[in-house]
Amino acid sequence: MERPVSQNIYDTPEFFERYSQMARSVYGLDGAPEWPAIQAMLPDLTGNQVVDLGCGFGWFARWARAQGAASVLGLDLSEKMLARARAETDDPAIQYRIADLETLELPERAFDFAYSSLAFHYIVDFGRLMRTVFQALRPGSQFVFTIEHPIYMASMRPDWLIDEEGRRVWPVDHYAIEGSRTTDWLAPGIVKHHRMLATTVNTLIEVGFSIRQLFEWYPTAEQLEAQPALADELDRPMMLLVAAQR
Ligand SMILES: C[S@@+](CC[C@H](N)C(=O)[O-])C[C@H]1O[C@@H](n2cnc3c(N)ncnc32)[C@H](O)[C@@H]1O
Repeated sequence: MERPVSQNIYDTPEFFERYSQMARSVYGLDGAPEWPAIQAMLPDLTGNQVVDLGCGFGWFARWARAQGAASVLGLDLSEKMLARARAETDDPAIQYRIADLETLELPERAFDFAYSSLAFHYIVDFGRLMRTVFQALRPGSQFVFTIEHPIYMASMRPDWLIDEEGRRVWPVDHYAIEGSRTTDWLAPGIVKHHRMLATTVNTLIEVGFSIRQLFEWYPTAEQLEAQPALADELDRPMMLLVAAQR
């Protein structure tokens, strides 16, 4: 099978500029409302060799080191994302490397923890990537990732609709038709890849992972009070958080 060619949208100047202005780009992990929920799923990283798949600006890599990780390998497709990650990192135990997760190869049993935040919905061959991550982890190691939720991604036109009674609803159409979705987000023509919830979970199980926890992220009452706009996330899940173990 011919390998899919990945869209490197984060390297286009218009998209990069807009992405850089998002709260999660300006304030890092504290600017991402799902971060407290992710943090609650993470194991103790002390002494761990960590790999971060789609590491972006390297916020998690630096945080993991501050928690005592021995080393972090941050991988990303985008030169621009990694250039900023390198500029903001002064730590020889963190390495950033250009890599396409579609064709990624990693050494066997080399890591104690694998992490990924909001990168896997860009991946076509999720099974291949999961096999790569599985064999790269030492037995017993944990794997935590977030991905756009399939209810959020499934529609061919993912945006709020107002029905004739004035109710605002999120469309879920084409749910069982997996594959690419082209949307406008920060820039036109962003290509993502929709998979059903069962496909994501079953892929992990088939590869050999045990599922420890799933969380269809929604805000806490305190977060809603501080940021009322997060109420959208009570109406439909935008992100799926997964904790698994080899
Ligand atoms: C939404 S950003 C998340 C960045 C970081 N994980 C975070 O949470 O702050 C998605 C990242 O995935 C990277 N990415 C997208 N497709 C990729 C691919 N095929 N291989 C490697 N990285 C990819 C992008 O370049 C971008 O840095």
